[in-house]
Parts: sequence; structure tokens; C-alpha cells
Amino acid sequence: MSKRLVQDLRLPVDVALDRSTALPMYLQICRRFKTAIEQGHLKPGDRVPSARALATELAVARGTVDMAYRILADEGYVQVRGAAGTVISPTLPAPEAGTVRPVPAADPDTHPSHIDHDGNMPKPLQMGLPALDAFPRKVWNRLVGHRLRSGDVSRLAYPHPAGLDQLRQRIATYLGVSRGVSCLPEQVFITTGLRATLELTLRSLSKAGDGFWFEDPGYILARPFLLNTGLRVVPVPVDRHGLQVDEGKRLAPDARFAMVTPSHQSPLGVTLSLERRMALLDWASSVGSWIIEDDYDSEFRYQGRPLPALKSLDRHDRVIYSGTFSKVMFPGLRLAYVVAPLSVVDRFEAVAYNLNAGCPFLFQAGVADFMAEGHFSRHLKKMRALYAQRRAITQRVFNHLLADQLRIDLLAGGLHVLATLPDAADDAGMAAHVHAAGLAANPLSPWYMAARPKKGLLLGFANLVDEDDAIRVARRLRHALSAAADY
Ligand SMILES: Cc1ncc(COP(=O)(O)O)c(C=O)c1O
Repeated sequence: MSKRLVQDLRLPVDVALDRSTALPMYLQICRRFKTAIEQGHLKPGDRVPSARALATELAVARGTVDMAYRILADEGYVQVRGAAGTVISPTLPAPEAGTVRPVPAADPDTHPSHIDHDGNMPKPLQMGLPALDAFPRKVWNRLVGHRLRSGDVSRLAYPHPAGLDQLRQRIATYLGVSRGVSCLPEQVFITTGLRATLELTLRSLSKAGDGFWFEDPGYILARPFLLNTGLRVVPVPVDRHGLQVDEGKRLAPDARFAMVTPSHQSPLGVTLSLERRMALLDWASSVGSWIIEDDYDSEFRYQGRPLPALKSLDRHDRVIYSGTFSKVMFPGLRLAYVVAPLSVVDRFEAVAYNLNAGCPFLFQAGVADFMAEGHFSRHLKKMRALYAQRRAITQRVFNHLLADQLRIDLLAGGLHVLATLPDAADDAGMAAHVHAAGLAANPLSPWYMAARPKKGLLLGFANLVDEDDAIRVARRLRHALSAAADY
């Protein structure tokens, strides 16, 4: 708590401690607190740091902070509770509307407003989430707790920037067995998610102005990141066989990168056909380009056989394979990985060393243990069956209760369904109404860049726990869509 507070106090630049002004330090400290309270950074009941800790943090005498706290207490801003510490007065009124500094609005086109980053339970239908209720938390807590208690002091040092050896080994084995991807542990780099994977990859292999094929429609959260990299992002249309490789070759024959979601196109859910896979690999090897295979949720496939990764067909080592633990375990972990082609492992390694100081040891070790003890494959097996059930319930219930408003045709895999709407529908407007009603439908059209957008709602089904839950949520959706239609 005191850490958060001290950091918050640094936020308002205009109230930084200034040793050159005539305003005494203790009054400057008072002003910082008052500003932090007015701006809502500090709330009634929040604990403030001890006078000693704050004095050290701000490099002032302890008496200076004591004086500031006495004034704040006299003015009713804080309450001193002896050994229990000092807190912001619980009776302090909440800041008036308009005094809280507004947060800059996210770009509504690319920021899915349904994503809750505040630690609240996500809204029903949020896409991209695995079944949070079904993760084996007891097992996980035991494994992480065991590591935590192990008392190995070496683990308090910096972790390896490329990732924990044990985890890199486990991933290499898993990819070989389950995804047909043969690689050495040294090729596997642990990252904090897809965007960190892209950062590592692009810093290792790209230069400004390089062409980058991006699926159209394509993963909406990667787009703003890519548009900020200085690369020439080229939207390449997707049809029912996946990325139109011929179109890519026509639009940007010399592109240095192509990013694809071959197993389960994001967001349309189609599979990249074998013919297109071969054409893409041929193109990449003939022009010396790199293919980034984003294999984010291929583990969940409900129709036909699981598909091997594109990387498994890669005879010329042009594919950079990107995986994540966000779907197969849970996204709060922030652990993902990338497999670097052998010829560029040293470049990835050099960049990884410069880019950051690695991912936290504890969670990497927890995942390695989770895999080593067989929980990972058991969990995947269970989740495949559970998702198949939840997906079928969602389709049945929604198509029945919302028959006149939308139509769900099942995708072959993944954790969301696509509800199609008439072409004239305003899916973004509808999604805004749905969002206001406390649900998290995601409109399809903003996922397009240049191609003519299709209209639809992307609905995450993984957290609809049973038929009753699906019925409740479908009724709320029905109500919200009717309200949108009347608007
Ligand atoms: C298309 C796509 N790629 C990758 C990811 C994984 O991202 P991360 O590893 O950052 O959680 C997701 C998550 O929703 C996704 O939808």
C-alpha cells in the first residue's frame, strides 16, 4: 500500500517537491497529499506510509513529514491511529465530479472496451478468456507455494532474460509432441505475451519501412502496436481458406514479414488451407521473408483432427512460432513464448538480453512444474471437453432465444463464436448498448482495416458455466439488442 501511495504522489508533476521555492517542504508535502486526494489517487481509508518511510523516500528529515502529517490531521485529511498507522480520513467526501483528472480515451476503433483491467470479474461473453472457474487453482497454488517456500536464495537474483531453462525445455518437448514443431530449448524465448513476442522478433529482425502483411480482419490488439513500429503494415484480405496469399504477393511482394493465425484465424475462425500454407512458405523462402505464426488457441479444436502447426511444414526455417499460456492456462499469468529460427537465435538472444531482465521466476517455475507433473495435458484434455459442451449450449440457447436478432454458426475451434448480423446492422453501435447492459459482445467490423467489413458480434462462450447461465445471459443480450434497435 505504502508503495502505491508513494508512487502516486509522484504522479502530479506540478506538485513535485521543489527545494528552490520559498514554500516550506512540509507544506509542499501537504499539497501533494491534498492533490492526490482530490484527483482520486488516494481514497478514504487508504493507508499512508509511515513518516519514517516517506522521509527516506523523499530524502527529507523525519520531522518535516511529521509536521506535514500533523497539519493534514488537524485539517481532517488523515487520521492518526497509533500503532495501526495513519490513514486517509474515512469520512472525507469523495472528490467532486470534474476534479478527477480524466484518463485519455482509448481509441474506440481498436480498444475493445469490454476488457477489464481492474481486477474485477470480467463481463459475461468477454472473448479471449479461458474458463476461469475451471482452472485447477488448488494444484496451481500448491505448486507455486512449494516453489515460494523452497528457500533457494539464488532465485532472488535476476532471472535469465531468455527464460527459465526448465520451462524452455518443457515447451520444446510439448511443441514437438503436440504441435509437430521440432525445436531446441535454446530456440524458445519466454515473453510476457504476444506483443512482447512481436517486440523481441521485430527488434531482432526488422528495420524501419519493412513491409508487414497483416490479416484483414486481424487481431485487433496487435494492430495499434504494429502501426507504431515504423513498419509498413499491409492489410491482406482473408477468405474462407484463410489469408489470401496471392493478394499479399500482389500488394507487397517484397514484404519482410507475414503474420498469420493459421489454425484458427483471428477473428473469423477459418483455417489456412494446405494449399495456402504451402504458397506462403514458398513465398517466404523465395524472397527471404519471415512468417510469424500466431498459434494462440490451436489447442482447442472441436471439429476434425487437431491441425499441426504451419511451423511443422517449414523446411526452410522461415517461420517464427508464437505461443501463449493465456488460453491454455490463464491470461493473468502473462507468460508466452516464441520459437526463433535456428539461424537467428543469436540475434534473439542479444535482443532479449537488452530488452528486459526476463520474466518472474516464480510463475515460470510454476508453469514448468505444472507441465512436468502432467497437470497441463490433463487440464487441456478436460478443457477440450468442457469447451465443446459450453460452445454447443451457447449455440443452441442463443440461436433459440435470439433467432430474430442474430445467427451463430460454429467455428471449428477457439473460445468464441461469431454471431452474424445483417450487413446493414451497426454492430459497433449494438455492441455499445450491449456493453452498457453489462455484457461484453465485441463488434466484428472494427477488426477490418481495408477490406469491406462484415457485421457481427464476437462472443466468448468459455465462461458460460451451464445452460441456466447461458439462458440468463442470452435474455440480457436479447434485451440489450432490442434496446439498440429502438434507439
Ligand atoms: C489472435 C491472438 N493472438 C494472441 C493472443 C495472446 O495474447 P497474449 O499472449 O498477449 O495474452 C490472443 C489473445 O487473446 C489472440 O486473440
